[in-house]
Amino acid sequence: MKPIDKIIINKDTSYKPIWIMRQAGRYLPEFREIRKQNPNFINLCLNDNLSSEITLQPLKRFNLDAAIIFSDILMLPYGLGQKVEFEKNFGPRLGELNLSEITKIDEIDFVEKIHRVYKAIKKVSSHPNLNNKNTIGFVGAPWTLLVYMINQQSPKKNLKKDFFKDEYLINRTLLIIEKFLKVHIKNQIENGANVIQIFDSWAGLLEEKDLPNYVYSPTLNLVNYVKSFKVPVICFPREIKNYKEFCDIVVPDVISIDYNVDPKKILQDIKIPIQGGLDPKILLTDYNNLKNEASKYLKTFKDHPYIFNLGHGILPETNPEMVKNLVNIVKDF
Ligand code: CP3
Repeated sequence: MKPIDKIIINKDTSYKPIWIMRQAGRYLPEFREIRKQNPNFINLCLNDNLSSEITLQPLKRFNLDAAIIFSDILMLPYGLGQKVEFEKNFGPRLGELNLSEITKIDEIDFVEKIHRVYKAIKKVSSHPNLNNKNTIGFVGAPWTLLVYMINQQSPKKNLKKDFFKDEYLINRTLLIIEKFLKVHIKNQIENGANVIQIFDSWAGLLEEKDLPNYVYSPTLNLVNYVKSFKVPVICFPREIKNYKEFCDIVVPDVISIDYNVDPKKILQDIKIPIQGGLDPKILLTDYNNLKNEASKYLKTFKDHPYIFNLGHGILPETNPEMVKNLVNIVKDF
């Protein structure tokens, strides 16, 4: 049985698998080397030879339990025909959202535009290095994708005041996002993804009264869709205030927590398997501090099914040696 299945199906507490959000990325010199030659990030994601190689890079260095496919949540708006670019020192920049254009896209157009992501998943999942490890596919949650598609860039601390002004645009776009997320999930699973993680990076921006509409209900639909393939689903509703309520309503197989969550408190509140939590900034300190902080999570979740991970993506300035240390700390615990 693969490591993450042991946690989810068997509720195994004797083994703590580890993988790291953004494990394939800029903290690795071998990634930066490829990136330098490939200034267009989307094209790099669509180059299945390179994107599968990048996906495997961290597994060659570290004894990780899973590969997460090198792609991006913004491949969805790209597949719908919205312009998506990544600017150095700025992040994603999207073109204007044109409802009448994205309404015309059908499943065949969408898959045609991004099918190389699925080809990369096929290559990775059938690679001998993945025999006893999980291949994680992922999507952005409907809410987080809506934020990018309307805002056209990462939001700062708050949504712009008139974000919800055009109700028709918001509701129509959400339905389109949900429809194509299902297409995206199905194709990832059919090509070998055996876990799906749903990233809701901007769940924390919403007021409580808006959570049912924009987070709970659309995410529940996706969670049920993933479950219909008998594939486990991990949810990461980053900075949501009430993880317990989220779990009670959405019922993912695993809940991934951010670094503001008190591990002891969440252990009391939540019965399902838990993932993550460690602040990525801890990897910028020293070995002893890393060992202390990682041990807090390992001790707290000693008798609970737990997947080790960070509370958000690994920072580009991280020294790969510290990742090696972290993996060893988890394996030796
Ligand atoms: O985890 C992995 O290793 C798999 C690959 C992965 C990427 N993005 C590659 C990437 C995953 C799972 C994502 C998810 C993603 N993308 C999220 C959700 C997780 C989160 O961080 O909250 C979000 C919000 C995005 C959108 C996105 N993509 C942003 C905001 C940025 C720019 C910010 C930054 O860190 O520069 C990206 C670019 C991006 N996606 C990079 C990578 C490796 C850096 C691109 C580069 O090399 O310049």
